[in-house]
Amino acid sequence: MDKLKVIDLFCGAGGFSEGFRQAGFEVTHAVDNWNFALAAHKANQPEAEVVKADLEKEFLTEEEIAARFPKPDVIIGGPPCTEFSGSKRGGSGDVAKGMKLVLAFFRFVHTLKPRWWVMENVPRLLQTLPDHVKLKEMGVPEEGRFEIPRREVFNSADFGAPQKRLRLLSGRYPSPVQTHSDAPTLTLDNVLYQPWVPMRKVVDAFPNPIGRVPKGKVVEDPNYPEITLKAEELEDHFLKPEEALMSEEEAARNKRQKVAHAYYGKMNFPDVLDRPARTVMATQFNASRETMVIATKYKGETRFRKPTVRECASFQTYPITYRFPGQTLATKYRLVGNSVPVFLSRAIAKAILAEAGEDLRKTPLAEIPAPRVSA
Ligand SMILES: C[S@@+](CC[C@H](N)C(=O)[O-])C[C@H]1O[C@@H](n2cnc3c(N)ncnc32)[C@H](O)[C@@H]1O
Repeated sequence: MDKLKVIDLFCGAGGFSEGFRQAGFEVTHAVDNWNFALAAHKANQPEAEVVKADLEKEFLTEEEIAARFPKPDVIIGGPPCTEFSGSKRGGSGDVAKGMKLVLAFFRFVHTLKPRWWVMENVPRLLQTLPDHVKLKEMGVPEEGRFEIPRREVFNSADFGAPQKRLRLLSGRYPSPVQTHSDAPTLTLDNVLYQPWVPMRKVVDAFPNPIGRVPKGKVVEDPNYPEITLKAEELEDHFLKPEEALMSEEEAARNKRQKVAHAYYGKMNFPDVLDRPARTVMATQFNASRETMVIATKYKGETRFRKPTVRECASFQTYPITYRFPGQTLATKYRLVGNSVPVFLSRAIAKAILAEAGEDLRKTPLAEIPAPRVSA
């Protein structure tokens, strides 16, 4: 069977693509308007053609899209979620601006008619996203409407990621197979869910990030036991003490924000390593209420630090060999924090593959009908 072909819109560093790649798909095109995202995608998944485009201003018509992109089997993508995210000024982002990019994604799906499509966003979008959109709203000058047949929130921890990250997946896709849950559970159809993977699995897998690199020490990937690197080959982890440690004031402020917040509820300070990590944020670099904080020993004292870019990447289930180009730590944290966890993406990809395999026995892929557009 030929590899199923995927186009990734708003590709970022490529977490969504990477899950499909690992499941055996061919990502043919990856589109973004940010050079660092395109560079990261290219560095790690060189088979895909990267396309730099502002999807708010380019590819506004079906003709332009059809002229540039071949018909894929799957379209995936995560339009930026800042406008919908609960963390943005109490949720007061510019929803109309965010919707423009969501509609751009729909325009691609309507034009290229892949059999499957999956759009990732924050759960908050569920409040705004209807189950259909008029074609005219998407810039398609026709009567009729575009259907969004499925909208469901998934937790990446349920698919083996050491991170609790809730994401809304909209589109046309089969159910991914859950493998983990809060506690070991035997389901009615006799499947045993493994317990959620704790944050400790990542933190303990890496050498202490502060100070000297323990040369020659072998680091085993916490998510892919078959991948190992020598400590000196590990990127984006080792820092000078002054870069890694939170100052006393910063730690005290963060603790206050977390434990004494009457309105938003209390959070643990420091984070509890025996639970999956809280959601990795794109703004992880600046200490805020949502920032993860890890307790560490430094010169015999208990101090606090944020997770390194590499630890965040492992919470997102990127392999430890995945590279994040960027001149600043803020850029790297953003690339990582924006991503779809690879394991969640891979679970969806595998479900699609299973469905394709089923159908391919009955119908060759080319004859499978294109998505329905009802009047
Ligand atoms: C949430 S991230 C996507 C992350 C990606 N799905 C992953 O798994 O790594 C959103 C991406 O949309 C890109 N973006 C934002 N506005 C855009 C626009 N107008 N046109 C194209 N890309 C845009 C950002 O640069 C960012 O990389």
